[in-house]
Amino acid sequence: MSSTLGEVAAEAAGCTKCGLAQGRTQVVFGMGDPSADLMFVGEGPGAEEDKQGLPFVGRSGKLLDRLMAEEIGLARDQCYIANVVKCRPPDNRDPKPEEVAACRPWLERQIQLIAPTVIVTLGNFSSKLLIDTKTGITKLRGQSYPMEGMISVNTVIIPTYHPAAVLRGGGLQEAQMRSDLVRARMAISG
Ligand code: URA
Repeated sequence: MSSTLGEVAAEAAGCTKCGLAQGRTQVVFGMGDPSADLMFVGEGPGAEEDKQGLPFVGRSGKLLDRLMAEEIGLARDQCYIANVVKCRPPDNRDPKPEEVAACRPWLERQIQLIAPTVIVTLGNFSSKLLIDTKTGITKLRGQSYPMEGMISVNTVIIPTYHPAAVLRGGGLQEAQMRSDLVRARMAISG
């Protein structure tokens, strides 16, 4: 079994466990501090992420960087950023259940190795997966949830909107996302 995040990333780089492997330019494993207290989990890479091999480098990522700096006081290299699926779904469609299932062990290994204090899930997709619920993000957000079942780290999950939804939705969603990030800051600082 691989023992460092770098080793797991190297293994994942050649992954062909689902059909997304065929359409990708490269695997977007994740980036940041392997011992971060704070981890963000999005949905899956878009076109720019697929090109650069890094998560959240497009417009959504710029917003995430700004809100993270303003509300938590951290830069992206001080936390860890990953996605539920590591390869770009064609035309930015939602990942299929079998793709999520195939990719899940990579996310689980990331969470186990990083063992963050807080995971901020960005949007419906990662929030429902990690909290293990069918409830949507609008109802889920505004509180924190213990990480149960999936893996045995002492981590709380703080769900918030996907930054792409904030870019579309405007003021209220941005204010709510800011307050979720403040909750994350308080949870990190104990
Ligand atoms: N949206 C995501 O969910 N993840 C990315 O990496 C980029 C956009």
